Amino acid sequence: MPYRYPDEVIEEVRLRNDIVDVISSYVHLKKQGSNYFGLCPFHNEKSPSFSVSPSKQIFYCFGCGAGGNVFKFVQDYENYTFTEALKMLAERANIVLPEVTYSEEAKKKQDLKSEILRVNKEAGKFYYYQLRNESGTAAMQYLKNRGLTDETMQRFGLGFARTGQDLLYRYLKKQGFTDDVLKNCGIFTYDEKRGVTDKFWSRVIFPIMDVNHRIIGFGGRTMGDAKPKYLNSPETPVFDKGRNLYGLNHARTSRKKNIILCEGYMDVIAMHQAGFNQAVASLGTALTSGQANLLKRYTEDVLLCYDSDDAGTKAALRAIPILREAGISAHVISLSPYKDPDEFIKNLGAEEFEKRLEEAENPFYFEVRIAERSFNLNDPQGKTRFAEEIARMILRFEEAIERDNYIEGVAGKYGMNPDSLRKLVAKYAMKGDGIRIREPVKSGIHDRAKEDDGIKIAQRMLLTWFVEQPKIYPLVKPYLHADDFSPGVYRRIAQMLFEQLDAEKTDPAAIIGKFEEDAEIQEAAKVLQTPLPEGEKTADKERMLKELLINVRTGGLQERLQSGDADMDEVGTMILLKQETERLNNLTFHLDQID
Ligand code: CTP
Ligand code: MN
Repeated sequence: MPYRYPDEVIEEVRLRNDIVDVISSYVHLKKQGSNYFGLCPFHNEKSPSFSVSPSKQIFYCFGCGAGGNVFKFVQDYENYTFTEALKMLAERANIVLPEVTYSEEAKKKQDLKSEILRVNKEAGKFYYYQLRNESGTAAMQYLKNRGLTDETMQRFGLGFARTGQDLLYRYLKKQGFTDDVLKNCGIFTYDEKRGVTDKFWSRVIFPIMDVNHRIIGFGGRTMGDAKPKYLNSPETPVFDKGRNLYGLNHARTSRKKNIILCEGYMDVIAMHQAGFNQAVASLGTALTSGQANLLKRYTEDVLLCYDSDDAGTKAALRAIPILREAGISAHVISLSPYKDPDEFIKNLGAEEFEKRLEEAENPFYFEVRIAERSFNLNDPQGKTRFAEEIARMILRFEEAIERDNYIEGVAGKYGMNPDSLRKLVAKYAMKGDGIRIREPVKSGIHDRAKEDDGIKIAQRMLLTWFVEQPKIYPLVKPYLHADDFSPGVYRRIAQMLFEQLDAEKTDPAAIIGKFEEDAEIQEAAKVLQTPLPEGEKTADKERMLKELLINVRTGGLQERLQSGDADMDEVGTMILLKQETERLNNLTFHLDQID
């Protein structure tokens, strides 16, 4: 384990933080059988598939596959490293963590993520200092010309990267950072011939921070005409562009009831300076559903403030459905006649901008208004086509009352007969036009390939069953071995769980704690939270147990017989498997004799 704290301390913190209590402070949970259920905070859903098990002390989402123990939940939700989650939960339980003295060895062992964060912090300071010494004079002038005050520059940690091969690289090396880490930070170019060079040259630097004010990446703007205008650092283990928003670290505590979503760094900064400290922007890419879900944590009221040019309008049209999917009805701010919020505020001031916030347009009306541009409403045929387009658009509303309200509203706006429009909507609904087909859940954090054959399902059900009803285990033990389980996560879980069961001390959350990779942790949570299909009768259970056992046992046997060591031919394998199946089939477990 790369963690600096002793295992006993980690266990102590975990045991003193009941997972249901902890998750309840983030997610509304309701008891259902032996589990609690709620809406998953890691993907958007309307009915709860996010489960928390008080007895196992683990969570698992049947919708998107997120899962783990209490540390993993806090890590994922707060975007914390393991150590940070540990510290937070220790504090929550009033546990004083022991002082750790870092040996050189221990320093190296700290996990990569926190090392990258340390590098980013140092790099941020380096750039910050460069802007404020002589080499940064021109950059400072540039930012002042753009109307930024010293206070604003400081608040956003703005900096400057001056021209030079490897100024930052050498600086960080001198601080003791290794190439293993620096290679992964996204701010250097490693080239066999030219060696290592800094990524940012002669650019104003915008550090990108997560909600906890930690620098996760950088954006750099040229002060002249160099291309590209903005250069952003790539994604790294700490920089997930789809799940962070520029400015959210300040906006989350703005105490405003809405959040203003704009296009760029400068927009956000100009708005904050003008008092609209609830402004955020995506990170040089189109808005993602991960960002929409992130926004949903803080507000239901998003105001879109994209540039008024074609590109901005297109971006808004793309953002609206993504926000709608996350349950946010985003209203659209009009900046006309100015191009972006920065220009608007410079010319008309904050008070006028405040008015535009109040007048922000309903997203559906915005979409209709943009659609209108492609029809000639002076021509009856054009007008009909436009009405048909509107009717199709209205179909995306699931509630009849919502559809009705929009039919009335749009008809009023464009001088159409609401009843005719209603009939058109009904016609398209019958044909099934325009009705959205839901895409399968993609949450962004669970991208591992899923091979999910019957044998693995049987393995999961059996392991979950042992956890939930440990008395089953001694009955089955003589016929089963940990090696029967698929190599990797499944087998490691079986080994650990069997040890725990032998000691009559099952602790699934501790098993999960032994895994380090995100994908493994999620897989482990899934393995330990796969309930049997409903079946009350003991006879059913008896049959089910036998079936699972046969599946797991023969699956494992087959794999071993045909692997390198044994290398048995197919016929031989078949015979052996058949014998084993028969043997297991003739067993009786007397499940009726345990509770
Ligand atoms: N952007 C980018 N790469 C580019 C251009 C833009 O990543 N080559 C991103 C940046 O995050 C930028 C945002 O898109 O902040 C908006 O781009 P743009 O409208 O061109 O920039 P402005 O915000 O208007 O910036 P400025 O006022 O500095 O020109
Ligand atoms: Mn712009």
